[in-house]
Amino acid sequence: MSDIMRTLTVNLGDRSYPIHLGEDVLTRVGELLRQAACGEKVGIITNPTVAGLYMRPVEEALSRSRFKVTPLLVPEGEEHKSLESLSAIYDRLISERFERNSSLMALGGGVIGDLTGFAAATFLRGIPYIQVPTTLLAQVDSSVGGKTGINHPEGKNLIGAFYQPRLVLIDVGVLRTLPQREFLAGLAEVIKYGIIEDPELFGLLEEKLDRLLTLDRDLLVKVVAASCAIKARVVEKDEREEDYRSVLNFGHTIGHALESLTGYEKFLHGEAVATGMAQAASISMRRGFCDEESHRRIHKLIMRAGLPTKIPSNIDPLELVRRMEVDKKSTGGKVKFICCAGIGRNRFHWLSPQEITAELRLIDG
Ligand code: NAD
Ligand code: GLY
Repeated sequence: MSDIMRTLTVNLGDRSYPIHLGEDVLTRVGELLRQAACGEKVGIITNPTVAGLYMRPVEEALSRSRFKVTPLLVPEGEEHKSLESLSAIYDRLISERFERNSSLMALGGGVIGDLTGFAAATFLRGIPYIQVPTTLLAQVDSSVGGKTGINHPEGKNLIGAFYQPRLVLIDVGVLRTLPQREFLAGLAEVIKYGIIEDPELFGLLEEKLDRLLTLDRDLLVKVVAASCAIKARVVEKDEREEDYRSVLNFGHTIGHALESLTGYEKFLHGEAVATGMAQAASISMRRGFCDEESHRRIHKLIMRAGLPTKIPSNIDPLELVRRMEVDKKSTGGKVKFICCAGIGRNRFHWLSPQEITAELRLIDG
């Protein structure tokens, strides 16, 4: 294995799995699947963009280790995280005679990862799947933790299951072909981990952001590993989001509402989350949980990363908060709002829609 290959473990009893992380991991997928005792047949689910870039090295690596590969292409785009795509995947798995020990590999971003995971969770009542995330967001967030699912015309991620992968293989080298806007959107989730749990990671981002933006390999490995380690710890504490896992929604309450209100067209998920985090930090400071210096550092880092902090002036806070009320995480008329209690510390706080509206009206940027 290359010098900078690292392995982390998500400890979930008999559903535990490794995250192998480094450079040139794609060329080693065959041996890593063998080590994980995957069966002979592997279906690679990907989209045309990612297939054009990475299908060949992955297929070759699997063939070298004598796996039988079935490529399954899903069209590009969030709208294809759908029942139609799922149905086409089932048809193909049946015609190719996939069995209980066959596996699926998600080669792509979060769209492919969520869809593949849900196909694996439901086909033959569950077959193994491997996450090979190719966006920064998928590497630090969606590939770890077993949230799988598809969208419904009435809302995102309405159909899904918790189903953990057999292993996660992260090759940071693939981030070189990722459009910069997508990279920065993923960086929002990394900043999130620093804010909610890890002052060291936050400090590292402050110190080395410019180098990270040049995609320095060792720094990328360090930052992605630190993010995955936090995600793994949170998931180990609360796999099915009964309580603490919702800390990962820091910035998402406002972020999701912003995405929904703008028809999922204006913001990438990470951009909306960045705005939500900045606003949540401001609400946290106004409520007396977060000191001024932490608030200042959060806003500054988000801005330095080229991410937005302000709710566009044409958006009425009341309209935004109305979107939160239909969010699946609201109960009893109050929204579970994740607050920052200083860099690396968090706390939950229940706020009514009226209180959030009033807070957003008071925040000046
Ligand atoms: P995405 O999967 O749509 O990928 C973004 C774009 O990058 C796509 O156009 C894709 O083709 C392209 N791409 C992917 N890898 C590339 C590479 N290496 N080089 C060049 N182009 C590449 O977006 P995303 O941000 O990765 O994921 C968003 C999805 O993830 C949403 O559906 C969201 O609901 C889901 N999600 C799930 C979880 C979870 O815990 N399961 C967490 C967060 C988000
Ligand atoms: N992305 C949030 C979670 O996995 O819980």
